[in-house]
Amino acid sequence: MVSTSSVPGFDLAAVRSDFPILSREKYGKPLVYFDNAASTQKPRQVIERIKEFYSTGYANIHRGLHFLSEEATANYESARATVAAYIGASTPDEIVFTRNATESINLVAATFVPEVVPTGSSIVLTVMEHHANIVPWQIVAKKLGLRIRPVLISRNGELDRDDFSEALKGNVGMVALSHVSNSLGTINPVKELVAEAKEKGIPVLLDGAQAVPHFRVNVQELDCDFYAFSGHKLFGPTGIGVLFGKAELLEKMPPYQGGGDMIERVSFSGTTFASPPARFEAGTPHIAGAIGLAEAIRYVERVGPSGAEQHEAMLLDRASCGMKEIEGLRIIGEAEHKVAVASFVIDGVHPHDLATFLDRDGVAVRAGHHCTMPLWEHLGLSATTRASFAFYNTFEEVDVFLESLRRTVELLR
Ligand code: ALA
Repeated sequence: MVSTSSVPGFDLAAVRSDFPILSREKYGKPLVYFDNAASTQKPRQVIERIKEFYSTGYANIHRGLHFLSEEATANYESARATVAAYIGASTPDEIVFTRNATESINLVAATFVPEVVPTGSSIVLTVMEHHANIVPWQIVAKKLGLRIRPVLISRNGELDRDDFSEALKGNVGMVALSHVSNSLGTINPVKELVAEAKEKGIPVLLDGAQAVPHFRVNVQELDCDFYAFSGHKLFGPTGIGVLFGKAELLEKMPPYQGGGDMIERVSFSGTTFASPPARFEAGTPHIAGAIGLAEAIRYVERVGPSGAEQHEAMLLDRASCGMKEIEGLRIIGEAEHKVAVASFVIDGVHPHDLATFLDRDGVAVRAGHHCTMPLWEHLGLSATTRASFAFYNTFEEVDVFLESLRRTVELLR
């Protein structure tokens, strides 16, 4: 397949050659991977770094006096510093390694909320949240007698700013928002939303799982209190996630889980806890995951976020234009500011049937509720098909997808 991009300085062919899986074929057809919002593929630099670590540098961290442990510890802590620098945290101590964005949000819900959110107050979310940014708040709300207040969105998938302001008028203890919607692609104006909440002294968590794979984020510029994301959506390994928390807040939070490495001193008369971030990293962490994530960040930085962003915008544009020519197809989520995610429904065609037929043409898309059931309920839908793009996708792949879509629709209708 031809692999060129018209974005100056963005070498698509070189990028694609870094992703071994992209040369796979299935059913005699080249793989067209458009399920990037679920998880992105991994460049060989990440795969090789993990292999190298397990082959030559592996040991447990923080507790060995031998050189391997010291080396592994240095690599793990350097990975933390890489993440901190990448998202603009003021110190690596503001970076907690978790399993994924989901665990990062659960950590804040379980430790921060009981300390600071008064009983009877509400937690403000939006109807476009992923279940990961709904269920942890519901669990803690039930325990503490809090209310959940979802902010509405418009038909084209943009947050209703008036309803957000309205929601903040009540007795609000916390705001938790997605930076980018996984189902709609909407980029929320989080800087302004954070500022509005901050004016009222309300703490804010941003779910950045779908933002960091598409553009560079700076947590200090956003001024959010917490920022959560997963490594596996950022071209890194599964099982590693990040929680950024402002140092003064992490300092006040109790531990999330108890165990080794998160303590200062343990005795049966009482235990004292380590300072953050160690306080929140009980047990042996995903050392290789953190190291792999740091390599993924170095890779993304080398690719160049601005070229990648422009290329993705062109992919989305080509796909959206082609999709709109299909009779009965409706794109769900047409916010003015959105990332390269296209959710859609087609009259008379079930999303699951569509995804199965596309798969037979080698095109991997997702169909279903995408872990955003309340969003679909709000929009009067139960499922969509979703094509989500990454910087390694090509215009030719978009054309294969569109051709397969046209044929499938003719066949199924
Ligand atoms: N949260 C992932 C998605 O959006 C799995 O598909």
